[in-house]
Amino acid sequence: SNPSLLILAGDGIGPEVMAQVTRIIDWFGDKRGLKFDVSEDLVGGAAYDAHGVALHDDTMAKAQEVDAVLLGAVGGPAYDDLDFSLKPERGLLRLRKEMDLFANLRPAQCFDALAEFSSLKTDIVSGLDIMIVRELTSGSYFGEPRGIHMEDNMRVGINTQRYTEAEIDRVARSAFELARRRNNKVCSMEKANVMESGILWRDVVTEVHQADYADVELSHMYADNGAMQLVRAPKQFDVIVTDNLFGDILSDCAAMLTGSLGMLPSASLGAPMENGRPKAMYEPVHGSAPDITGQGKANPSACILSFAMALRYSFDQGVEADRLEAAVEKVLADGIRTADLMQADGGTPVSTTQMGDAVLAALEAS
Ligand code: NAI
Ligand code: MG
Repeated sequence: SNPSLLILAGDGIGPEVMAQVTRIIDWFGDKRGLKFDVSEDLVGGAAYDAHGVALHDDTMAKAQEVDAVLLGAVGGPAYDDLDFSLKPERGLLRLRKEMDLFANLRPAQCFDALAEFSSLKTDIVSGLDIMIVRELTSGSYFGEPRGIHMEDNMRVGINTQRYTEAEIDRVARSAFELARRRNNKVCSMEKANVMESGILWRDVVTEVHQADYADVELSHMYADNGAMQLVRAPKQFDVIVTDNLFGDILSDCAAMLTGSLGMLPSASLGAPMENGRPKAMYEPVHGSAPDITGQGKANPSACILSFAMALRYSFDQGVEADRLEAAVEKVLADGIRTADLMQADGGTPVSTTQMGDAVLAALEAS
């Protein structure tokens, strides 16, 4: 049977950018014989409107069964005043948690045509292609104890950075596996100089490396130095693996090396399923962009590139993933741009659909 894909377009520009991805999925089916069983469902505010919860149990069950989930974006001003337990983001968090998606892959790739949008000089970022692997399910955002307590008549805010060996082991393996498919190089970042969890992190990564991945080049770096190196000379890196908190910050930092939010895809991977594929969810880094919703201005590239990641990491279609990424790159090189990719005097931007048209045309020509 065909590989299965659950599309959760979500809110705001989510459905607008996802509509372009659906056209591309159809193209791969028609022209490349790569057919998917696609189902669609609600998440976020859209699910709240229909069911009173940000993710229905049936949707959760479907997500557990498919080969990959493709998500648009969730949230919007209409839901800002909802109780935290009902907020659109809860839909996302539930998916990540119940699918146990522990490895968050955030590529930072600089398309040459967009190098002018980088916050760094062109020669520092041109040709940049790195991947940050952020641990997503543990660490200081989840560790217990946590809370705000009274101590000596004073409020104290507490979070706990806690990692088990098993949690470090599995994300390290994800990073090493990824490195073997790329340039065989991993840099692990922590703060082993001042944190116990950092010492354990470095030990476990080193053990996994020695036991099973000695062919991969491994280096270690303190995360604060890592932040400096990322903006000083980012091309020294290939795969970076780090914890949840440092990964949150470092991946946002790396993202801005490349320019626009509208270009950034991501993947969140879990343990292998029975068929050997990892549990997986793919989504653009950007949110629901209420300021441009319904105006045909959204850049669908981040969502399209997220589908390219799905082709590569869930469906073993690396060649087709390359083809899709090259199509996006070709469109940009031809100067076809949505408004977010234009300087003030840049000319006339194309719409979301026209960007989709252009990518399809480039695919067709490839
Ligand atoms: P945002 O990413 O939605 O938008 C930030 C800015 O970037 C806006 O000016 C927006 O127009 C622009 N932008 C974002 N994606 C774009 C695209 N594809 N093409 C062109 N321009 C684009 O972040 P913001 O404004 O902080 O949050 C808006 C809503 O989205 C909130 O409800 C927030 O909670 C939610 N959100 C959801 C995320 C998710 O679903 N994973 C992630 C981040 C925010
Ligand atoms: Mg962040």
